[in-house]
Amino acid sequence: MNETLLRAENLVKHFHTRGGVVRAVDGVDVSIARGETLGLVGESGCGKSTLGRLLIQLLQADDGVLFFDGQEISRGALKSFRKRAQIVFQDPFRSLNPRRTVGDAVGEPLLIHGLANRQTVRSEVANLLKEVGLDEAAMDRYPHEFSGGQRQRVGIARALAVRPDLIVLDEPVAALDVSVQAQIVRLLMDLQKQRGLSYLFISHNLGVVRHIASRVAVMYLGKIVELSPVAELYAAPRHPYTRALIEAVPEPDPARTLLIELSGDAPDPINVPPGCRFHPRCRLARQVADADATQSKVALASGGTIPLVCRDDEPALRETPGETGASHLAACHFAERVLPPHHDTIARDAV
Ligand SMILES: Nc1ncnc2c1ncn2[C@@H]1O[C@H](COP(=O)(O)OP(=O)(O)OP(=O)(O)O)[C@@H](O)[C@H]1O
Ligand code: SF4
Ligand SMILES: [Mg+2]
Repeated sequence: MNETLLRAENLVKHFHTRGGVVRAVDGVDVSIARGETLGLVGESGCGKSTLGRLLIQLLQADDGVLFFDGQEISRGALKSFRKRAQIVFQDPFRSLNPRRTVGDAVGEPLLIHGLANRQTVRSEVANLLKEVGLDEAAMDRYPHEFSGGQRQRVGIARALAVRPDLIVLDEPVAALDVSVQAQIVRLLMDLQKQRGLSYLFISHNLGVVRHIASRVAVMYLGKIVELSPVAELYAAPRHPYTRALIEAVPEPDPARTLLIELSGDAPDPINVPPGCRFHPRCRLARQVADADATQSKVALASGGTIPLVCRDDEPALRETPGETGASHLAACHFAERVLPPHHDTIARDAV
């Protein structure tokens, strides 16, 4: 048994479109441990869903390697891997065929993977429906007869059918009412405990991620820019982008959808800025420049607004001084100067 269930090294996925090359996932290293929930957050279009699909091989990467349970996933082993890694989408209605009963939708993977036969499939489906809190009578009904929350339960039952080790949850509660969101999150947490599941939980909602994840990865323009245990990420982020995301969450109602109020142009995955890809929007870079200009401590880009190093050198994802001793990675040249959220100034003597 391997503690690390899934490990990705240097995953890359570029889409060639009329407008240019979209660098959706641009060199990602990440791992998910057995039984853990890794949260994945970031603005719309930063590559979260693409990364989720790459990790379970719904999409083929252009580059990079994936290891599952210590073994590299080869093309030949794809069918057995598919059984062990599943996905639940934001809108289960779209992934459920409207003309097929719920029983057929949940039973199909059981039959495909030889986990049930025509005689046993109904009782297996009834058990799965019960496990996700639905009555077995749901079996003979159609998706449109259910509420959003119930449909998401069906989507979860379908994913559970093949007894996976890992489920990618791609914004699984984003389309639901707040009270229903809480019920689905609780269900997912209970199922995880009972079945020892690992989750990749993708969300815009930092409040929900905070509740369910043990570690969180923050994505920006195709890259992970911070990866940390959850409590530490919220209390002491080490990347200015993460800090801005946290400050944009309207407290004290963490269930509200995140509104990101970041300055500068919205990121464009076709025209990724050189150096640190966050530099055109980075307040810390400007503050560092201001604070250090008089003492000539950092070389500034022409115009004197940001440090040259931010514009020219792409920062690597590196260990930063964490508070708990657990690994806390951030991709920022000035990570040590990032102050906790809701503090105005930078730590001038921290470096
Ligand atoms: N099949 C595709 N063809 C071309 N471009 C794509 C394709 N899939 C995704 N993209 C682009 O890749 C980038 C990343 O998309 P992705 O869906 O992974 O982002 P996301 O973080 O999940 O966004 P959201 O929060 O809106 O779901 C976007 O610019 C998107 O337009
Ligand atoms: S490397 Fe520079 S531009 Fe990038 S996040 Fe850090 S301070 Fe900002
Ligand atoms: Mg998405």
